[in-house]
Amino acid sequence: MSALLADLGTRAVRVLAPEPAHRATIALLKAGLGPSDHADDPALAVDLAGLKLPNPVGLAAGFDKDCEVPDAMLRAGFGFVECGTVTPRPQAGNPQPRLFRLVEDQAVINRMGFNNRGVVAFTNRLRARAHRPGVVGANIGANKDSTDRMADYVDGLRRVWLHASYVTVNISSPNTPGLRALQTRAALEDLLGSLAEARAVQTRAHGRRPVFLKVAPDLDEDEVRAIAETVRVSGLDGLIISNTTVERPADLLSPHKVEAGGLSGVPLFARSTRLLQEFADALDGALPLIGAGGIASADDARAKLEAGATAVQLYSALVYHGPGLVRRIKDGLLKRPPQIPARRLPAAAI
Ligand SMILES: Cc1cc2nc3c(=O)[nH]c(=O)nc-3n(C[C@H](O)[C@H](O)[C@H](O)COP(=O)(O)O)c2cc1C
Repeated sequence: MSALLADLGTRAVRVLAPEPAHRATIALLKAGLGPSDHADDPALAVDLAGLKLPNPVGLAAGFDKDCEVPDAMLRAGFGFVECGTVTPRPQAGNPQPRLFRLVEDQAVINRMGFNNRGVVAFTNRLRARAHRPGVVGANIGANKDSTDRMADYVDGLRRVWLHASYVTVNISSPNTPGLRALQTRAALEDLLGSLAEARAVQTRAHGRRPVFLKVAPDLDEDEVRAIAETVRVSGLDGLIISNTTVERPADLLSPHKVEAGGLSGVPLFARSTRLLQEFADALDGALPLIGAGGIASADDARAKLEAGATAVQLYSALVYHGPGLVRRIKDGLLKRPPQIPARRLPAAAI
């Protein structure tokens, strides 16, 4: 199907309430009714922590929580797809309604609460597509009622390792109470220490995979410094900046702005890009960064790349612009490539 038709499809499903619209979209994609993009210009290719991406525009976690349609999204033109968040045991998530379109703000608020069918079903789907090309990552989290959250992450990492191209450790969802406390220095050191051990075992058995950490946008300077210092020595391969925000900018227009949950889309762009820049400064090239938050155009993606990201991810803009946006972003990046400051280029390129 052409991207134009698919974008019209996006408009058509938007007459439904947000969650039924999302379910309908997944069903259409599963039925093979997604768009097909053409092959990428080699100039778009990037190396992200050893992953060879045909282009730097990824699908952010949360769209395909159960890993049902990664290949359809790769076909739509994404350079990589992150499935999840998946938890060890299936869970229903929060009561509905829990997903809101803030149309006037080109934004979304969600308090889904890691609804997913559990890591066993997820891994079975990953395994079923393992022979296909394309970078598909697994984003792992903890069950809401877990008595040992660290153990949930270790369990998730072990189970997805064999068939995931990379693993993202998500400690930044605002919708699982207490989860973001794992971003404090002592808790993060503990978590990353346990994950490093589990990872060493998996690497010996099945080979290397990059492991990324996904952080919240609501961090102050001290928290950024503490996380940067911790991840530098943790063996992690990159940071995803950022998840949704619990802040509500004063200029939001939609009546849904009062809903609890994480805000994403256009109003998140400035905050998440500033945070990306802060991490780029604090880490000074020690780890690759993936920029997410409010990307809705080629200019937005370029700004993230210029702020220090090696690759980007998006989700909310798909709701408003449809999958044709991915091609438009890539065309825009080709037409006017990002200007990367010389200090961030690899030594050989300078
Ligand atoms: C409906 C919805 C569900 C999400 N679920 C997850 C999730 O399960 N795990 C996660 O790491 N991020 C999740 N996110 C956050 C996105 O991956 C992304 O970090 C954030 O929305 C910012 O990007 P955007 O402004 O392009 O949407 C979700 C976002 C939305 C809108």
